[in-house]
Amino acid sequence: MSASHSPFVIPRLQKIGFGGDWNPEQWPQEIWDQDIELMEQANVNLVTLGVFSWAHLEPTPGVFTFDWLDRVLDKCAAAEINVDLATATASPPPWMGHLWPETLPVTDTGVRLSYGARQQYCPSSKIYQEHAVALTEKIASRYANHDAVVMWHVNNEYGAHTPMCWCENSAEAFRSWLQKRHPDLESLNDSWSTAFWSQRFSDWDEIIPPRKTPYFPNPTQQLDFKRFSSDAMLGLFTAERDVIRAVSPSDKPITTNFMRFFPHNDYWEWAKTEDLVSDDWYPDLTDPKSHIEGAAGADLMRSLKDGQPWLLMEQAVSAINWRGINPPKPIGAYRRWSLQQVARGADAILHFQWRASIGGAEKWHSGMLPHAGPRTRTWDEVVSLGAELDSLSPVTGARTHSKIAIVFDWSSWWALELDSRPSTHLSQMKIVLSWYEQVWKDGHSIDFVHPEGNLNDYKVLLVPQLYSVTDEGAQKIIDASDSGASVVIGFFSGATDQNDRVRPGGYPAPWQELLGIWVEEYCPLLSDHTLNLRGLNLDGHIGSATGSQWSEHIHLTDAQPVFTYANGDLEGKPAVTKHEANNAWYISTQLDEQTLQFILRDAIVAAGVDPILGSFPPVGIEVTERRTERESFIFLLNHSDDSSTVLLPPGDWHQLTGDSGELKSVEVPSRDVVVVHTKSGRK
Ligand code: GLA
Repeated sequence: MSASHSPFVIPRLQKIGFGGDWNPEQWPQEIWDQDIELMEQANVNLVTLGVFSWAHLEPTPGVFTFDWLDRVLDKCAAAEINVDLATATASPPPWMGHLWPETLPVTDTGVRLSYGARQQYCPSSKIYQEHAVALTEKIASRYANHDAVVMWHVNNEYGAHTPMCWCENSAEAFRSWLQKRHPDLESLNDSWSTAFWSQRFSDWDEIIPPRKTPYFPNPTQQLDFKRFSSDAMLGLFTAERDVIRAVSPSDKPITTNFMRFFPHNDYWEWAKTEDLVSDDWYPDLTDPKSHIEGAAGADLMRSLKDGQPWLLMEQAVSAINWRGINPPKPIGAYRRWSLQQVARGADAILHFQWRASIGGAEKWHSGMLPHAGPRTRTWDEVVSLGAELDSLSPVTGARTHSKIAIVFDWSSWWALELDSRPSTHLSQMKIVLSWYEQVWKDGHSIDFVHPEGNLNDYKVLLVPQLYSVTDEGAQKIIDASDSGASVVIGFFSGATDQNDRVRPGGYPAPWQELLGIWVEEYCPLLSDHTLNLRGLNLDGHIGSATGSQWSEHIHLTDAQPVFTYANGDLEGKPAVTKHEANNAWYISTQLDEQTLQFILRDAIVAAGVDPILGSFPPVGIEVTERRTERESFIFLLNHSDDSSTVLLPPGDWHQLTGDSGELKSVEVPSRDVVVVHTKSGRK
């Protein structure tokens, strides 16, 4: 059975995974048996081994020491603890940087970074590549058929610390990458607009990565370098993946852990190359909306492989050690935030790390087993979550069916946030999350989709920010509208093509007909500047709203104004528009939350899409649904301080755990989570 045909993303586990990174090499062997015993107590069924073990597996170049890992894996097999085996290539040992300094990455100012931390490799270094592949070959051939190994974990968080390298090797690799994209130098000169500022290249060898320059480096050069860098890292992954695939049974899936809205890797491209998506998530405890970002990131991970369940590869049980101040997670947050990820498609909840270290840079990062041992609140919470996830086994493999999607693209994100824009204060993620939040509050299932993806699967397409778009992406949005989808497009979208060349003739050039408008001028607002808007509010009366960050001088052709600017130079001109016949909205400013929610609701209602519950959930309640062929599961997560009664949709609902009778409504206590299920088919 191949991994992709099974509803279970880890075919040899077939239940929700629970566990984390286990680093036995940091501990004397006596501790290993204790660890296994405690793992059994906590229902741990999956551990990741070897992520940072390179120096222990290959202490000097070409000399391998696998005996300790043999023993650990045999212990796991005996205890029936499954292993996600890493290729150990994330942190080259000191010998590599010492013998081959050219493997170390170089910054845009020419500084070569030193070894002594981790991830100190240039992705284009042939020496690093050869050693990484050789180590992977050794590990894969030795352990591919080991009973304990159920999946593979390639490297770790590619690009987390050194997403780009500006060295000479990288320059050469960048040129080769460009030569594959451009038939000749003329085509590159044209795409990069090198007629500007006398930047025209006369020879391929003149092309270098965008190193530190006196003024803005060429924007398309920067953009292509970001694309190249994502591809260069991806090349490292696929090289190791191919080595594993050649020797491993096909039901042992291969993954590398993502970092959800990570700005440097185009995960749409990456996800195509791996068997399953896995991801690391460390919410910022100082952000009161981190649970909303937590929901959005999970939805993105689920969407990357067309709704396939994914694994939460890493989270902290409690405190981390790498923000300024690192308090423990508030009581109850560990459970609720873990279940939130399951609610949104995760089929494993794993952690960094199993046992908290006592030395090294991460000794103040929590582990499932804290320094104080099992007599702790943390341990109790771990044991209780392990048992709860075991009882949620029926959810494994279940999918979410969304009719609403947010269009999201890394290339456009990169282009938006380059220098030399009308405003460098725009943040792709802030804009996207502000839209996501409004739909999340209303209790809808939400997917993310690439602009050139399967847009026709959706009844509502939300395009909060898509600064640049290819012709194909632009056309797909029009096609989705032609097939009846509601489309809402946000400001400064469709402005440029994939080379960051302006699409002229009034903005947003590709969608003027769809939206029934054209834009004469972009008018970004100063940071503290808010404009008043006037329009029809929720109850149909003239109401007021505000816009910030941005505004635009819009001309109407076939659209109606929904809100107009009420002060400033654009007074009386449209701010939010609707093309009635196309069900297409344009929002030319960052709306206040309530008004944004109102507009998005309008678009969703127009498309005939109901919330999961059939009605909007009470404030503070997050709602998700996952379905198998036989069963539907609704997760109700209460993020508020008040208990809430939630009305369930029609159906024969029961609580998943405990033995409740048939339910019409359910009480969700403050900070709690309730899961209900039904076998009556839901559409
Ligand atoms: C990342 C890494 C882990 C660990 C954690 C700490 O996610 O993959 O090795 O450093 O951060 O939060």
